[in-house]
This record gives sequence, structure tokens and C-alpha cells, in this order.
Amino acid sequence: MIYSVLLSLGLASQALATACSRATLQEATTSYVRAQAAGQLSLLALADNVSYAENDMPMDIEQGVLSQAITIDFSRSIHDTVECATFTEITAATSKHPYVIHTRMLVAESNIIAIESVVTDQGDWVFNATGHLHWTKQEDWDPIPQDRRDTRATIKAAGDAYLDQWANSTLPVPLDTPCARLEGGMYTGERDSSANTCKMPAFPTPLNADNRRYVIDEELGAMDIFNGFPWLEATKPDAKMPSSNMFRVEGGLIRYIHEVTVCETPRCGR
Ligand SMILES: *[C@@H]1O[C@H](CO)[C@@H](O)[C@H](O)[C@H]1NC(C)=O
Ligand SMILES: *[C@@H]1O[C@H](CO)[C@@H](O)[C@H](O)[C@H]1NC(C)=O
Ligand SMILES: *[C@@H]1O[C@H](CO)[C@@H](O)[C@H](O)[C@H]1NC(C)=O
Repeated sequence: MIYSVLLSLGLASQALATACSRATLQEATTSYVRAQAAGQLSLLALADNVSYAENDMPMDIEQGVLSQAITIDFSRSIHDTVECATFTEITAATSKHPYVIHTRMLVAESNIIAIESVVTDQGDWVFNATGHLHWTKQEDWDPIPQDRRDTRATIKAAGDAYLDQWANSTLPVPLDTPCARLEGGMYTGERDSSANTCKMPAFPTPLNADNRRYVIDEELGAMDIFNGFPWLEATKPDAKMPSSNMFRVEGGLIRYIHEVTVCETPRCGR
């Protein structure tokens, strides 16, 4: 009896989750980009109880960056119809105040119930919005033909492996050739875009990037992982800095990585 109740609850919540349409999520990300450009929250279908956080700190949405108009030069969005979640990367290079912003949203019945952003600007880890814009525009994140799409599990495993190797540099990571990483505004593919330049040197100490929050889009082979990144902030090596890694996976292999990480002191004191 208890089993069958649990089972039907499980199935019901699964059915609910997959009932989240791509069109609904696309409406949410389109309106998010418009709202951020205008600095107008009224352009968003927000649930009454919407939660809002920037750089892992809950805050009043009216006091946040989303209430400021910024010039958006470029954006990319991905849509997770299983988790009813979205992810958007905003590049604002020509804005009076330049930013690169990563935002994850949760949607329920067409309303946005949660928004959290990693908001990077001058002084954050290798921040350079001009560089970010220059490189992101050259990349191809078009939909992957249906017969060549990876499963959610494959995409997730690729991104997880990349973060897991920070704790153990001998773990294998499925990197493609070519593979390029856009880290702040710095591009590993700058010298040779046909090479795999994503391989990371071992960190001086094992890093446990946890508190991972995922958005996965099989159609684009894309995923983002929000996470807490330790060690980088030299003045506070134990603190988990707000960080986000966006991935493009093709045939199980990582093609692109975009990382943004917040610092407390300029360039994390490094
Ligand atoms: C807000 O309301 C939605 C239903 O509209 C619900 O799914 C969600 O869990 C609520 N969130 C919080 C933080 O209470
Ligand atoms: C930022 O990136 C642009 C474009 O790649 C480059 O020309 C510029 O020198 C960079 N600025 C800094 C401060 O690194
Ligand atoms: C690191 O990964 C390798 C390869 O999977 C494994 O053999 C080793 O035990 C791991 N080391 C630690 C400290 O977890």
C-alpha cells in the first residue's frame, strides 16, 4: 500500500516535470533578457513567492542587477524541460557598467518561481566582457541533429567529470579536439582554435566544487553547473566562491566551457 502510494507519487511528479514545455521555458528566457535590458521586473511573469539570489546571497529582487537597465550585446539560453529550469548567459560589454551574468531560473505553471545569478564584473576572475563577447560570438551552439544528440546522463557525466577532476587530477575528462574554454574573458583557444586547450593543470590542492545545481538541454547538447568554487579567493581559501560552468557537449565530448567566478578582492588576490 505504502509502496504503491510512493510509486504513484513518484510517477506523478515525473509526469509533471516532463510536462514543462520548451516553448514555456523559451518565453521565460526571452522575457528575462528583455527585462534585464530594460531593468523592468514587470516584463517577467514572476510567481508571488519568487525567490531571488545573486552570488549565493538571497536578496530583494528590487535591489538586484535585474532592476538595472544594462546594454546586452549577446546572450545564450538553454532550456531543461525535465527540471523546468532555464539558464541564460548575458554578455554586456558595451554597457556603461560591463557585466557577464549567468542566470538559472525555475518555472512552475508558466511562472518564474526562482532566479539565481552569478553576476561578474570588473575585478572578478579574469573578467573582460569585451573578450567574452569577442569569443562567444564565434562559437557554434546550434541545435544538435536529432540522431546525434547525447542523453541527459551523458551530458551531465561530461560536465561532472570536468569539475570532479579538480579534486583528483588523474580522473579522466571527456574533452573533444578541438575544445576551448572561455574563462571570464580569457580564451584558451586564442592561439589554436583547432586544438584541445581545455585540459586543466592540477591544482596545488584538491578542490571540492560542490553545491552543484544543473540545467541540461539535450537539444543543444548544453548544460550549466552552478557550484561553489573553493581556494581561488586567496584571502579566503576555504570560502566557496559563486561560480558557474556552461558546457557544450558533442558526441559525449566537451567542445566548449564558459566559466564565470566571483572574487571578493580584485582578481581573487592572485
Ligand atoms: C512557490 O509557489 C509555487 C507554485 O506556484 C511552488 O511550486 C513553489 O514551491 C513555491 N516556492 C516556495 C519557495 O514556496
Ligand atoms: C579584453 O579582451 C579584448 C578582446 O580580446 C582585448 O583586446 C583586451 O586587451 C582585453 N583587455 C584586458 C584588460 O585584458
Ligand atoms: C583519483 O582517481 C583515480 C582514478 O580514478 C583513483 O585511482 C584514485 O584512487 C583517486 N584518488 C583519490 C585520492 O581519490
